[in-house]
Amino acid sequence: MSSIKIKSISSLRAELSVPGDKSISHRVAMIAGLSSGSCEVRNFLPSEDCLNTLGAMRALGVTYDVMEEMVGFGPTALRIDGQSGRLTAPHGAIDCGNSGTGMRLLAGLLAGQDFTSELIGDASLSGRPMGRIIKPLSEMGAQIEALGGREGCAPLRITGSRLRPVSYEMPMASAQVKSAVLLAGLFAEGKTTVIQPAVTRDHTERMLNAFNVRVVTEGNHVSTWGGQVPEARDFLVPGDISSAAFWIVAAAALPGSLLRVCNVGLNPTRTAILNVLMRMGAHISDSVQTRDAGEPIGHIEVRGQKLHGTEIFIDEVPNLIDEVPVLAVAGALAGGRMVIRNAAELRVKETDRIAVVAKNLRLMGATVTEFDDGMEIEGGAKLHGASLESHGDHRIAMAFAIAGLFARGETVIHDTDCVKTSYPGFAQHLDAVLHGRTAAADYLLATMSCP
Ligand code: S3P
Repeated sequence: MSSIKIKSISSLRAELSVPGDKSISHRVAMIAGLSSGSCEVRNFLPSEDCLNTLGAMRALGVTYDVMEEMVGFGPTALRIDGQSGRLTAPHGAIDCGNSGTGMRLLAGLLAGQDFTSELIGDASLSGRPMGRIIKPLSEMGAQIEALGGREGCAPLRITGSRLRPVSYEMPMASAQVKSAVLLAGLFAEGKTTVIQPAVTRDHTERMLNAFNVRVVTEGNHVSTWGGQVPEARDFLVPGDISSAAFWIVAAAALPGSLLRVCNVGLNPTRTAILNVLMRMGAHISDSVQTRDAGEPIGHIEVRGQKLHGTEIFIDEVPNLIDEVPVLAVAGALAGGRMVIRNAAELRVKETDRIAVVAKNLRLMGATVTEFDDGMEIEGGAKLHGASLESHGDHRIAMAFAIAGLFARGETVIHDTDCVKTSYPGFAQHLDAVLHGRTAAADYLLATMSCP
């Protein structure tokens, strides 16, 4: 099990691009795999989660050729041969590893197939709630058994069928549940609608539209129609703003810093992190350079300032749910108080992120009050280095690596192999940041491949 050691830095000057977006990479593996022909996919994220989804599609009869690779990780460019909507029965259980997105979206696809399949995952994924997709997919006519030790948990045995369309009112704001129902809707006769309580990331809708599948969003209703096969096309995956968020917070909170992130996804259902940091006083600008398949892609520039605390609005929560661990770190570094509420979903992520963030921040010297649905962080404490557990959660490992850049003394994060689930190359980027500091005395210069 690996660990990383971090020391404080005095400012950060860097230009970087981050690997491809995780949510979008999962979806393109599935939608290109369902499509009518050959699709060249560029900047695919070679993280364990997305490689598991690619492996799942291969187990379901989809073939692909690798065109480019990130050495030591996996394919970044590939040609996927779509199977025109016809998947084939896998020979064994499909392993989704650590990925809730992989398992829930694949369940939507498998619900409409004429075979039985089984989805399994690691210990963390086997403890996460699957009832939220079992309910709507069962209403559509699939048979899904949750075989796990905990009620409603994986492994999932899915016997697909010709599905009935539904109009499903989601009790929680979840893009994974919405996407599972929409993907199943492609195999239902008629119009399937998902009603969401709040706007959630809309990559599935944008991607299906880009592959010429009719998906219509009217207010909080998202609908699609069965019998459509995605039309093959090439696809560029934007950089992942959730990975960029670690460096954005580091630069925003460190006066004198200057950071430019290139070719990153700027989908408005993902950029709330920027709005919150600006409310905290950060100087951030972003500009869309291009749009590919409906996804805006551009640059973000961040100048460091002394930040002050803020409250995260209810509507922002689904839009920044994955950034809460690193935003909480920003809250601890800022003056005043940071309040995060309406975020109980954090308790059912890869770890209970409310409990783990609160615990690790306290170990570094911050004062945190934990609520059922969030936390309040007393900002401004001088953080000190600590020995911290990631609990196998990639975003916890990376968020506290960033906290370590601001702490007096050394911080050690244990169990950091998990960063491979979303950010291959994070350790190298961190190393460049730390190494730059030694080379350049009181400020650091990390230059990382901005095309
Ligand atoms: C994701 C949606 C979010 C997010 C997850 C990825 C997706 O989960 O936390 O990391 O790709 O759809 P929920 O939709 O369950 O909130």
